[in-house]
Amino acid sequence: MQDVHRQDVHSGDGDAEIAPALLAWYRREGRALPWRAPPGTLQDPYKVWLSEVMLQQTTVKTVTPRFIDFLRRWPDVDALARAALGEVLAAWAGLGYYARARNLHACARAVSEQLGGRFPDTEEALRALPGIGAYTSAAIAAIAFGRQASPVDGNIERVIARLYAITVPLPEAKPQIKALAEQLTPATHAGDFAQALMDLGATICTPRRPACGLCPVRPSCRGYEAGLAGQLPYKATKAERPTRRGSAFVAIREDGAVLLRERPPKGLLGGMLETPSTPWVEEPPSQAAESYAPLKASWQKLPEIVTHTFTHFHLELVVYRANVSQRAKLKGVADPVRCRWVMQHDLRNAALPTVMRKVLGSALTV
Ligand code: ADE
Repeated sequence: MQDVHRQDVHSGDGDAEIAPALLAWYRREGRALPWRAPPGTLQDPYKVWLSEVMLQQTTVKTVTPRFIDFLRRWPDVDALARAALGEVLAAWAGLGYYARARNLHACARAVSEQLGGRFPDTEEALRALPGIGAYTSAAIAAIAFGRQASPVDGNIERVIARLYAITVPLPEAKPQIKALAEQLTPATHAGDFAQALMDLGATICTPRRPACGLCPVRPSCRGYEAGLAGQLPYKATKAERPTRRGSAFVAIREDGAVLLRERPPKGLLGGMLETPSTPWVEEPPSQAAESYAPLKASWQKLPEIVTHTFTHFHLELVVYRANVSQRAKLKGVADPVRCRWVMQHDLRNAALPTVMRKVLGSALTV
């Protein structure tokens, strides 16, 4: 039976030109990034792993200073394994998707304690480590170990979909795109080839208005030929993100300390700090917000609502603020042992996710 979602794409004569043209372009135009070795050489697996985990869902511009900071603090996998999880989470703050930071730490411990500090050199063995999936294992195997592996992230997906004029929408087209990427990957220099595709996607084959005039593989590009380059890849329409609402309580003690609470270790923003808050819910709440206040005080509702967008929902938070006495007692908070007072000058280095920095920013500057 024919698979209706599969578009027949045959490799043609022009395809043999793609890898050499991209590798030559990468040697000339590849971006110099702090986690990269020069073209033609292999990179330290620790740097490749750390950068690839950081770069998932985050831009090169945001990651670059953070990568440099991580490397200065933890120059190798054994150093990172010795760090406390809280320190790693704090250093990660602002990069989002905090499960990645917890997995990063767990992976460092596994490599340091079980593998003598050496990353395995095959995709399969890499995939067995915490937080390393199909993309990251292929990226490390290719870039750090020279294996013929094909990491495919969103940028590479776009480049391949255009090169082959794949009109099947994502995500259905994913397996086909992966197979085409594998077919194109050269036996040697697979790491440079992957990074060339990444750079092409970031600088020329951009999501909107690609610079086809500058593209080293335009003669082989069927998307260009079909006049579709700027539109591909097509995407199946996504369900809209729902909006959840809640309230956050910023208690400021006489000495300036702020009351924070550690979130449960598992789930969204697991193990990070937050201001005590109501649950975040889509339906109208069943209990008045004030009943969730962590202590008795004269709570002032701030006029501005703090908003933040997570992968699966938008969040709107009403912020309450109160000045409280040095001897303020925590009132029936669900989990007082998870609460602690943090001096304001220590907030910068605390494991606070972006949404909570917004909450504190709105309450501490008013
Ligand atoms: N995005 C993901 N991995 C990358 C890398 N190694 N270089 C540049 N951008 C990337």
